[in-house]
Amino acid sequence: MRGKVGIVGAGQVGAASGFLLAQTPGVDELILVDQDAARAASEASDISHAAAFGPAAQVTSGDYGDLAGAQLVVVAAGASLKPGQTRLDLLASNVKVVRAVLDQVLRVVPDAVLLFATNPVDVMPALAVRRFGVPPGRAIGTGCALDSARFRDRLARYLGVSPGSVHAYVLGEHGDSEVLHWSGAQAAGMPLLRFAEQIGRPLPAELRDSIASEVRGSAYRIKEGKGVSNYGIAGSVARLARSIVNDEQAVFSVSTFMEELLGVAETCVSLPHLLGARGASHPLLPEMDAAETAALRHSATLLHDAIRAGLA
Ligand code: 2OP
Repeated sequence: MRGKVGIVGAGQVGAASGFLLAQTPGVDELILVDQDAARAASEASDISHAAAFGPAAQVTSGDYGDLAGAQLVVVAAGASLKPGQTRLDLLASNVKVVRAVLDQVLRVVPDAVLLFATNPVDVMPALAVRRFGVPPGRAIGTGCALDSARFRDRLARYLGVSPGSVHAYVLGEHGDSEVLHWSGAQAAGMPLLRFAEQIGRPLPAELRDSIASEVRGSAYRIKEGKGVSNYGIAGSVARLARSIVNDEQAVFSVSTFMEELLGVAETCVSLPHLLGARGASHPLLPEMDAAETAALRHSATLLHDAIRAGLA
């Protein structure tokens, strides 16, 4: 059935994603699966009560078999980041969880598009491709879609313009080595730095550095205050899912497995991709300056090492 989406993992991230997905155009049916079936059932009814206030998907819970017919499965199972941890600290434990999830999911929906929100989100597509033979475009990490939204939001607030009018991507790891692609950022069809000058809100190097650390540290700061970061990632999941179920071919910075990037073999970093019904296609390597290229290569190398360690 077109427009059926499954979510595996009904914790804070899975439930927040479900809440938004239930209201996402093109999602007709939503099914929540969790090892704690009672929790999944409660989240599903709570979400469906909210959905009853407007046009929304039919929301239920079930087991893996109930994913049959899903076009897209969002994987949000596993531990989330605790204060003091980096995303890569979750590698061993979450690869184990996601391996068990894929074992079940792929028996039921071998052709579904997989969207990973479980950290480290960049390593999970490699697991699906290398260990389960999923085609690279159908195993997608939410990657730097969220970081790009944080980047655009921060820039837009400083510049006093709508985030939709700022075009800027974060590339590389969804994590500490991520690369803010300043040299390609644009607004009004001109380089962002020139736009910023023209509207009287210049972006000198120190301010760019402080915006970069703010974007990079967003999840850590959020977790200090509330213990979990769930709404931002849920927003990313819902937006990426919308592009997939409606075959929009919208461009987002997400991670897929690549045989080679910038001389680094077998890695999985975020680059702009087209997202549609068949998954992510055309990983695009934008023009970058020398420092950005070196930083992206560093990110790709870290993830190559993480994939080796995680899949060993
Ligand atoms: C985030 O960036 C923790 O990866 C999650 O919010």
